[in-house]
Amino acid sequence: MENIRVGIIGVGNIGYAHLSCIAKGGIRGMTLGALCDIAPAKRERLASEFPGIRIFEDGDELISSGLVDAVIVATPHYFHPHFVKYALERGVHVLSEKPAGVSVSEVIKANGAAAESKALYGIMFNQRTDPLFRKAKEIIDGGGIGEPKRLVWIVTNWYRTQSYYDSGSWRATWNGEGGGVLINQAPHNIDIWQWLFGMPAKVTAFCHEGLYHDIGVEDDATIYAEYENGASAVFITTTGEAPGTNRLEISGDKGKLVLEKNELRYTKLGIPEREFCFTEKTSSGIPPTEEFVCKFDQTRDGHELILENFASAVLENASMIAPGTDGINELSITNAAFLSSWTGKTVELPLSAEDIAGFDRLLEEKRTEEKARGPENRKGGKATGKSEYIKRWSVKW
Ligand SMILES: NC(=O)c1ccc[n+]([C@@H]2O[C@H](COP(=O)([O-])OP(=O)(O)OC[C@H]3O[C@@H](n4cnc5c(N)ncnc54)[C@H](O)[C@@H]3O)[C@@H](O)[C@H]2O)c1
Repeated sequence: MENIRVGIIGVGNIGYAHLSCIAKGGIRGMTLGALCDIAPAKRERLASEFPGIRIFEDGDELISSGLVDAVIVATPHYFHPHFVKYALERGVHVLSEKPAGVSVSEVIKANGAAAESKALYGIMFNQRTDPLFRKAKEIIDGGGIGEPKRLVWIVTNWYRTQSYYDSGSWRATWNGEGGGVLINQAPHNIDIWQWLFGMPAKVTAFCHEGLYHDIGVEDDATIYAEYENGASAVFITTTGEAPGTNRLEISGDKGKLVLEKNELRYTKLGIPEREFCFTEKTSSGIPPTEEFVCKFDQTRDGHELILENFASAVLENASMIAPGTDGINELSITNAAFLSSWTGKTVELPLSAEDIAGFDRLLEEKRTEEKARGPENRKGGKATGKSEYIKRWSVKW
């Protein structure tokens, strides 16, 4: 097989960007097989724009059609685990948009299907292709910071206007999206956090709903997390602050990384801090340091790189940059953060069966309350689908 035939389920903003890139031959190893969207107007438009390509109303039918070897799932988040599981159970490779789902309970089922299937499961964590994050990972995995001590990420440059939230009736609702900034924008960063620094053991969080926008879900969140080895992490994000900051600091006993303004600054300690602390005779000196600065220009869009890597994984057995089963990690942090904020308690990871059920129950309560309040006062359905990947979806420094 030279190319895999790809079906796209959900052809909105990002689905259309993937479509446009694949249709013009921009992804090595992929051709367009079929399309699916539940919106009739979208199907009509796609049918006239892509004659010869079969357009489905139902994603399950597309998966079972025999017209595709793989599907990209680009629907709103709640549908991701269903289509992932359905595809994997039928031996169809699947690349899901982030997040892996809304609730860990659903994603456990999708990951179970992945374990049983010969088909591959990838996830669109396009920020994993960013050269600065890749360099940071290389340094950390190579022992360059030593024993991890602290991660602090202030990522408040996910700014969104009310008009963004009004652009789709599913957006920023408990029923349509299952949350706000933590479930839509921050999954990229929370994935990078756990990819670089590992999974925490405990999460305490404070989420503020509708703090800056006319929405019922959180648009501002602070997560404090603790690790088995005593390390800690603080993660601050919002869509309501301008100008925002994107600054990631990671320190360990042998060095420190600071990523900001498209630059990685690595400070290497000549003597590990733990050793220095107990051998140094002065009272406030610091270990000798050496500093390295890295800057890179990412020449290709990260989404394209993930698509191409996914095709290579299917066709040539390449290792995946973002295996789909990794998606449960960032979602576990997010589910734990919501649960902590809703209950005022610290939540342990991995999530216990009781906490998973507790999260689902409280989310369901929020969905019921939202329904009782009546339809959101949103215009809805304005998303037209862009022809190219837009800057909003790349790392912003
Ligand atoms: N990786 C990234 O950089 C990135 C960027 C944008 C969006 N996303 C993710 O992609 C997903 C879609 O976001 P969007 O901004 O494109 O939304 P959107 O509203 O523009 O598009 C969603 C599309 O899915 C269709 N749809 C809804 N339910 C469906 C179903 N059951 N079956 C088939 N089609 C269905 C809708 O009609 C719509 O056309 C979200 O999960 C979002 O988090 C990822």
